[in-house]
Amino acid sequence: MEWRIINSTFVLLSASSQAQHYKLSYRISDCRYTILITSKNNKGLYIRYQFMTTDVFTLTIHMVSSLDGRIAKKDNSVSWFDTPDHYEKGIELTEQATADFLKTIDCYVMGARTYEHALELSKLYGWAYGDVPTFVVTSRDLPIERPNIERYSGDLSVLVNERLKPAYKTVWVVGGAELANQFIRLKLADEIRLSILPIILGDGVLFFEQFGPEQTLHLRDVRAYKSGMVELIYELKK
Ligand SMILES: NC(=O)c1ccc[n+]([C@@H]2O[C@H](COP(=O)([O-])OP(=O)(O)OC[C@H]3O[C@@H](n4cnc5c(N)ncnc54)[C@H](OP(=O)(O)O)[C@@H]3O)[C@@H](O)[C@H]2O)c1
Repeated sequence: MEWRIINSTFVLLSASSQAQHYKLSYRISDCRYTILITSKNNKGLYIRYQFMTTDVFTLTIHMVSSLDGRIAKKDNSVSWFDTPDHYEKGIELTEQATADFLKTIDCYVMGARTYEHALELSKLYGWAYGDVPTFVVTSRDLPIERPNIERYSGDLSVLVNERLKPAYKTVWVVGGAELANQFIRLKLADEIRLSILPIILGDGVLFFEQFGPEQTLHLRDVRAYKSGMVELIYELKK
């Protein structure tokens, strides 16, 4: 368990001739703590409430990649996701564990090309994102076939601050590279979860191509699975 204060704020809520009320908020790991403090003139400081919430908003970029950093093949086929490798010491990823984990995601965001590909795949395998609210970032009038899907166009910081933060806690940007790169560049993402499969594709769409200025990251966790997949979880510094 890592204990690290990520951010803290101390604000004056109200003041009268008798007392001043302050709010101190801070975040340690995934929990937000809030303490309300009252300062009575000449009578010291009183803590009125303190509470802890785990409802910190997190925007995660999730991407599956080959070892050479490709996220899609030129022909857009997805059979490379099923690699035949076996890593004995790895974690067993059961369907139940995956399903339980996916339940924690309360909103998806995807780029237009990813949506078009997901729609195509849905004809064979069904819609992969279920009834979870989903934003498709596009400037086009793409067909929307489900009530939980909404188109969004324009400023991504407005999307995050005005649409996502007030309504959701765990938002996953599920690609593609172009959209994910924008979220990272604009410092709107909190973490990157990169699942590297044991394969070199040699060609196709790169996760990062001409990204721009370098950005240092904090490696939060690494997990290796029996399938040979390695998951790297990076926290983005803001
Ligand atoms: N391996 C993985 O984990 C993974 C995950 C997801 C996707 N993929 C693959 O990656 C490929 C797609 O990735 P990509 O990088 O080419 O495309 P993408 O990021 O999915 O979509 C880019 C498109 O989204 C729209 N867009 C982006 N930002 C916008 C904004 N701020 N406002 C309005 N529209 C905006 C634009 O399309 P319009 O203006 O034309 O609407 C843009 O061309 C597909 O092959 C997909 O299968 C792989």
